[in-house]
Amino acid sequence: MLVELGILGALVASKDQTASSQQLAEASKCEEGVVVRLMRLACSLCFCDELDEQTYRANELTIMLVRPGWQGAMRWMDIIYPVTANLRGFLSSTDFGRVPDPSDTAFEYVHKKTMWRVLEEKPDQRRNFDLWMHERKRHEETLWHRRYPACASLSPDTLRSGPDAVLMVDVGGANGSQLVNFRKQTPHLPGRYVLQDLPESVAAMVQPPEGIEVVAHDFFTPQPVKGARFYYFRNVFHNWPDHKCVEILRNIVPAMDPEYSTLLIDDYVLPDKNAQLRSAIADIHMMYMFNSSERTERQYKEIVSQVGLEIVAVYPAGVNEEAILEVRVAVNK
Ligand SMILES: C[S@@+](CC[C@H](N)C(=O)[O-])C[C@H]1O[C@@H](n2cnc3c(N)ncnc32)[C@H](O)[C@@H]1O
Repeated sequence: MLVELGILGALVASKDQTASSQQLAEASKCEEGVVVRLMRLACSLCFCDELDEQTYRANELTIMLVRPGWQGAMRWMDIIYPVTANLRGFLSSTDFGRVPDPSDTAFEYVHKKTMWRVLEEKPDQRRNFDLWMHERKRHEETLWHRRYPACASLSPDTLRSGPDAVLMVDVGGANGSQLVNFRKQTPHLPGRYVLQDLPESVAAMVQPPEGIEVVAHDFFTPQPVKGARFYYFRNVFHNWPDHKCVEILRNIVPAMDPEYSTLLIDDYVLPDKNAQLRSAIADIHMMYMFNSSERTERQYKEIVSQVGLEIVAVYPAGVNEEAILEVRVAVNK
């Protein structure tokens, strides 16, 4: 309500980011009594500070909450909350996992279709989802090219050039935030930058990012871009159960040049023991949304080896249990 009514936005926009309930009521055209009650809750949650009686100041959280990505995330919860609210009903319908049906997810139990289908039918929610994906990884330490050491030594001498040469394909890349950032840092490098996602994601893009080719591509069909230097997947495999991950990989391996191409998986990579709370929650989220999981390195090894690939290095993010897995065509495939 605070975001939708523009109350937090008005606070952030006010002089010194400080305002009284009366000023916020005027700015948001909301009854002052409602502002006071909502702000009481917001301050108790540390979303902003109450300096004096009914006088408020924005803090770091307020500023974060009014960003488009966080607004998108809160609106996106319209789709998610009914799923979590019905989780127990779903689990009970599967006898708490004892009745195996790999096509069942709590999401489909509630919405009667997959999440990708819901997003296809609701362009507004597709946009909210993409904004949220972008927001989640906007921080410097999460940028893949900062965490992947090979990027530091990329140079025109070691890369292919010419009209067919492709430097990076961001597969299932949504709005391609990582690709856009990488391109900004590497304008001197040869090769094209290609962003692929479902047609509705491509259609939701208001303006294609400069210098990026945006193409609709279903990753369950053969990869059309051959011999790229990098095929990059961020937060893609965690949406799919093992057999579907194998299918995605099977469609990309023939496009890889064993001498040149690297496949990068940027996702949670859980430790074998004592996983952090955040990773454990993300894993359960994947379970009820997609019947998939966050995985350990061992689990990823098992998956990639089924299609003749091998993990050659792992680069942890450092800030949480996410990492980049560097994957190549196995030498003795
Ligand atoms: C969790 S999002 C991650 C998006 C992006 N990589 C990021 O990290 O911001 C997964 C993405 O996979 C895309 N996707 C789902 N099914 C797909 C398919 N069959 N082919 C291509 N992309 C697909 C979704 O549209 C979505 O953008």
